[in-house]
Amino acid sequence: MSQLVPQILRFDSLPSTNLEAARRAIAGAAEGLCVVASEQTAGRGRLERQWISPKDAGLYFSVVLRPRIHQSSWPLIALAAALAVHDALLEAYSLKTDVKWPNDILSNNRKLCGILAETVETTIGRALVLGIGINLTSSAFPAEVQEIATSVQVETGKVPDLEIILRNLIIELERRYVMLQSAEGGEEVLRDWSIRSSYASGKRVRVANGQEVLEGTTRGLESDGALRVETEEGLIRIVRAGDVTELRTIDVSPD
Ligand code: BTN
Repeated sequence: MSQLVPQILRFDSLPSTNLEAARRAIAGAAEGLCVVASEQTAGRGRLERQWISPKDAGLYFSVVLRPRIHQSSWPLIALAAALAVHDALLEAYSLKTDVKWPNDILSNNRKLCGILAETVETTIGRALVLGIGINLTSSAFPAEVQEIATSVQVETGKVPDLEIILRNLIIELERRYVMLQSAEGGEEVLRDWSIRSSYASGKRVRVANGQEVLEGTTRGLESDGALRVETEEGLIRIVRAGDVTELRTIDVSPD
């Protein structure tokens, strides 16, 4: 069983905690190295987007992992990380969040946390850098971000304590990571993800992947974490990348 032994490096400011963790992974850092910064000047998001990271407004965290599971199952690590964030926030603030495929954490349909998993080649083998950004307060975010995002402070009405969230997050990450690398661990992660996500099954969604757009109803996850979407024609499409948005039914009631 692979136990994580966390070592936490803290910085006032970094371009990106993922870049710093990747740099250290390439230099041979052991699994469990965590990088935390008070701000990021070039925070990275999924699909080549930026992750706006004002000073002290979020938890900007990355960890180096050297997974022993087959690489086809590595996408499950980001799903497991989403579970860890979900459970850490529930534990710390009784905040019940939703998980949007693959690993966005939402509260009241607004984004509270994003996760970026990036592979990196190192002299001691391929590593995974898992980056997690949790919005703690919203006030420093630009207006366009405030429209689609939320924060722990907005959702709980309390001033969040970064250290409590960080401690819970590391505990939950370790629990899920150990689970994932045990027998039947993948099934357990998929099952728990589906329990916590309103997107797992029966949700009408649009999936955009570059120029390709697909609409349909979610029908659970494949064993590697891919999302099954049933089209209007009854075909099951397997989604491995892209942006998922909920399709809401417009209520047209007669006057
Ligand atoms: C997303 O697009 O939803 C993923 C965002 C991931 C942001 C985090 S913040 C800490 C780590 N460092 C980065 O540059 N990105 C990730």
